[in-house]
Amino acid sequence: TDIVVLISGSGSNLQALIDTQAETNTRIVAVISNKPEAYGLIRAAQAGIPAVILEHGQYESREAFDQALMQEIDSYNPALVVLAGFMRILTPAFTDHYHGRMLNIHPSLLPKFKGLHTHRRALEAGEQEHGVTVHFVTSELDGGAPVIQARIPVLEDDSEESLQKRVLVQEHIIYPVAVGWFANGRLTLQDGRACLDSTL
Ligand code: GRF
Repeated sequence: TDIVVLISGSGSNLQALIDTQAETNTRIVAVISNKPEAYGLIRAAQAGIPAVILEHGQYESREAFDQALMQEIDSYNPALVVLAGFMRILTPAFTDHYHGRMLNIHPSLLPKFKGLHTHRRALEAGEQEHGVTVHFVTSELDGGAPVIQARIPVLEDDSEESLQKRVLVQEHIIYPVAVGWFANGRLTLQDGRACLDSTL
């Protein structure tokens, strides 16, 4: 199953997906970054995967950028688009186009803490548990159907950084699981809900 991965930064989730392509039955056919300095571009190049830079600043509107991004993605004809630390809000035209075939990973136990600075906000709220969610992408920011979550306890002496590190370990485990489900035809979006076929 061909997938395209979108990144903006370090790309540690991208690395986890690169390393699990054989197990998940996937092939990453392109990595696209909106930031030229994203370290994930180097990870892609090292794995022999085409790495594309599409700078959002070069486009006159969010709509124009999303159109160009869509064209670039579709030129690879992927079955699935995977957002892995892609830090751009997407237009409804974009999210509708990839309805049921685009996943995101968000570092909180959604529906809690949509948006940015999730670890800090979880600490400030005195949460005893925190974690990460893989979800289908819809036009509502971090609001699409959840697919899989990993939860971890918040420790007494946790800082934003220590919490983020432990959550990231979980991200690298659950994202390949979700992508593998999709690639193997088990995971679909039906009536706004994630369905996992357990007979396959
Ligand atoms: C991760 O925490 C992910 O959940 C969030 O952005 C971060 C990306 O990290 N959406 P990386 O680029 O995969 O290392």
